[in-house]
Amino acid sequence: MKNNKKIIAANWKMNGSEELMKEFSQLTPARHNDVIICPPFTLLDSAKSLLSNSIKLGAQNCSAEDKGPFTGEISASMLQEKNVSHVLIGHSERRTLFKETDYVILKKIEAAIKSKLIPIVCIGETISEKKTNKTLQALDSQINRSLAKIQPHEQVIVAYEPVWAIGTGLTPDENEIRETHLYIKTKLNQHFNADIPILYGGSANSENCSQIISIENVGGLLVGGASLKKHEFKTICNC
Ligand code: PGA
Repeated sequence: MKNNKKIIAANWKMNGSEELMKEFSQLTPARHNDVIICPPFTLLDSAKSLLSNSIKLGAQNCSAEDKGPFTGEISASMLQEKNVSHVLIGHSERRTLFKETDYVILKKIEAAIKSKLIPIVCIGETISEKKTNKTLQALDSQINRSLAKIQPHEQVIVAYEPVWAIGTGLTPDENEIRETHLYIKTKLNQHFNADIPILYGGSANSENCSQIISIENVGGLLVGGASLKKHEFKTICNC
């Protein structure tokens, strides 16, 4: 039987405060979905003590290294000590602003797995790749250079986030989401032993969440801006 439980992950990016975390302490997500909140590192302790036990804790990044002279970095094992179970890896903002390559992303996925964290690996095409019909090619190369090098028995989550849809209010149409998710699913199925959940991310909100989540092979949502508003996020968690 197919598991219909969806994953709703919140990416707070460099936003949020102790005050906002207190507001979110009242959030009790629906039983039919798994909710993961990824706040900034500094709010992980408050998240652990304030959020409902049914909400899982995620980080937004980790180092590829375990320890040592890497000023400003945080390792996967440090996150594990903070009760983190998931970590976003390869978000397009990390790829673009912090020049993370697929190789670095691969090393970070390996580091996360070594520390028993579940990596949520973000992939997606840029607007110029979309305009030149290179979406599937871009996804293919991101998967080949990172995910396809991970042992097939490992547990990972993939987030398909078209770069042009992040924070823009634009989303692909239903057919585009169906096509890309099917493509990613087929490719991951050839490599991994288990079914890998594929989340959709990019301008997901309380109005479009039910429609997007019902598309075939969409295993949940990765939500940025809309995850910072408690009522809006609650609606998304219940969709
Ligand atoms: P958005 O961000 O929902 O604000 O578009 C999604 C993300 O960056 O993960």
